[in-house]
Amino acid sequence: MFPENRPRRLRRTEGLRRMVRETAVAPDDLIYPLFIKEGRSVEEPIAAMPGQFRYSPDTAAKAARQIAGLNIPAVLLFGIPEKKDAFGTQAHRRDGVVQRAVQEIKRACPDLTVITDVCLCEYTDHGHCGILDEVGRVSNDDTLEVLAKVAVSHARSGADMVAPSDMMDGRVGAIREALDEGGYEQTPILSYAVKYASAFYGPFREAAGSTPSFGDRKAYQMDPANVREALREAALDIEEGADIIMVKPALPYLDVIRTLADEFDEPLCAYQVSGEYAMIKAAAAAGWLDEDRAVMESVTAIKRAGADMIISYFAPRVVELLR
Ligand code: PBG
Repeated sequence: MFPENRPRRLRRTEGLRRMVRETAVAPDDLIYPLFIKEGRSVEEPIAAMPGQFRYSPDTAAKAARQIAGLNIPAVLLFGIPEKKDAFGTQAHRRDGVVQRAVQEIKRACPDLTVITDVCLCEYTDHGHCGILDEVGRVSNDDTLEVLAKVAVSHARSGADMVAPSDMMDGRVGAIREALDEGGYEQTPILSYAVKYASAFYGPFREAAGSTPSFGDRKAYQMDPANVREALREAALDIEEGADIIMVKPALPYLDVIRTLADEFDEPLCAYQVSGEYAMIKAAAAAGWLDEDRAVMESVTAIKRAGADMIISYFAPRVVELLR
């Protein structure tokens, strides 16, 4: 009745599904972002990111302990200083908010890897990622000096890895040189090599109060239409000394992740950004999709595309769902 060589598909029992699964997300793949502000005992909900909080250094250490308890290997810290100025001076203070959080977290959980975001947009009163010139344009080379100072001050406070996210030209090289000179030649650099000028950072800017007061970041962040440019950006950063390269955002750029994974041998990180988080949260809150399934599907897709590690606000939830 049926042709002899009829192609047959695997009957999918749960056991078979598990055995033939090509992609598995594990706690070891995850990095959890933490927002740090001044003060004590702060745990302030972020409106645009339901379930996420701004912490002070002491409560951040508590949150970090929970993250470590879930076997998530790393956290990524963002600082929200009390005072901002045109030069982002709070970013490289010895007792700055991130510097203190690093110390407290390392004291509470020495084995947790602490990564720090190196950028000026949270620290400048104009909200741009660098220092401005007389006509209000970001001055690339003046910015490099400040970024290098920030990276060294993070390393001095005990950060295990620094992650420059500003997209200035030459920053990885400048930071590498400054770290080496400062005696931190062992501190690796996770470079936001491929960072698109994206609408999906909206909730983050609310969380960190870092929306530019004028203009946008299109002059230094990448055009979403480009993928060959992503290869060039990544190649340059690797040449300058990046140890791990990142694509950001993640889900709208799976093809970029795949292209970089095929092209480079360096470990590849993808950032499931605030807007990707907020979209799933909002749709789930409205009853329009199943949150847990959407979370697992999206992180699995990011891993399948070729990411070795994923920065995600869902990281703790993913670990719970894996159990
Ligand atoms: C810049 C920085 C941003 C994010 C990470 N680092 C914001 C920006 O470029 O505007 C966004 C992360 C997210 O949206 O979750 N310091």
